[in-house]
Amino acid sequence: MKKIANSVLDLIGQTPIVKINHVLPTNSPHQFFAKLEYFNPGGSVKDRLGIAIIEEAEKTGRLKPGGTIVEATSGNTGLGLAQAALLKGYKCIFVMPDKISEEKRAILRTYGAEVIITPTNVEPEDPQSYLSVSKRLSQEIPNAILGNQYHNPANPLIHYKTTGPEIWDQTNGDIDVFVAGAGTGGTISGVGKYLKEKNPNIKILCSDPVGSILFDLFYHGKPLTPAKGYKVEGVGEDMLPDNVHLKTIDDFVQVTDKESFKMTRDLLSKEAICVGPSSAMALVGAIKYSKNLTKPSKILVMFPDSGRAYLSKAFNQQWLNENEL
Ligand SMILES: Cc1ncc(COP(=O)(O)O)c(C=O)c1O
Repeated sequence: MKKIANSVLDLIGQTPIVKINHVLPTNSPHQFFAKLEYFNPGGSVKDRLGIAIIEEAEKTGRLKPGGTIVEATSGNTGLGLAQAALLKGYKCIFVMPDKISEEKRAILRTYGAEVIITPTNVEPEDPQSYLSVSKRLSQEIPNAILGNQYHNPANPLIHYKTTGPEIWDQTNGDIDVFVAGAGTGGTISGVGKYLKEKNPNIKILCSDPVGSILFDLFYHGKPLTPAKGYKVEGVGEDMLPDNVHLKTIDDFVQVTDKESFKMTRDLLSKEAICVGPSSAMALVGAIKYSKNLTKPSKILVMFPDSGRAYLSKAFNQQWLNENEL
């Protein structure tokens, strides 16, 4: 019985890496690879984070038996938490902005969580924002904790401990550039720190959606243009989370919604890789960046989740037409 896991939690991580072949510019001297996080049991990179947040809160005594986990989530962290909470006997309440796809809300309810929807287009400090509502609920509800994925150090730490070493082992350390989008920043900060410690010459690139303020914060120290809405889910920010460690990142590239949604469909039709728009956005940024590289390079791109969560959007022609994508 060597190969049988004790629970789905033991199946988190060790996700595969695949070569990208058919969506690249012709004659590109570079090689592109994608780490497919949809192979996690809950379908995204955030499975790693869900169990990490819970175990850290148990260890420090913040989370007690039968307790409630409240989190502001664009969906994937919710599922990572809900899956671990089911096995460990905790309740979950998730607060999500209304731009998040119907599929993501439905799956969280199916996993037994309560889902509260808040308006997307309000300032982070607004009492109606998903961050404010989740904070308030975690204070009002007895025996509740806030997952706090944007600021919780357990987030980059789990990527430093798992995702980074996996990438190093799977590639034998033979990569030149690591590329990811930043939502909470946990992935890029944790993986980036690990890879830089192994080889300081590896470049850490952040792909950022146009409309996010992270690009301006990196290059100018302040937003030059105010944050504005975009359709890619889970990445980019209208504030600077503690878990976005700008010092770990070497470069930022901006990507438009149009580029991201086109690549989402190209990845499916040309590579048979069905992923969400944030994966496509990361790859588009990687391709743009590669055009300025002087030597042939190996570029590894994080693909955070599956396209199945976006059937009503990225893979729905009517929605794409309505949104001019
Ligand atoms: C679909 C998707 N892609 C990318 C990310 C970004 O990952 P991180 O929060 O580690 O920066 C998230 C985070 O919520 C996400 O949901």
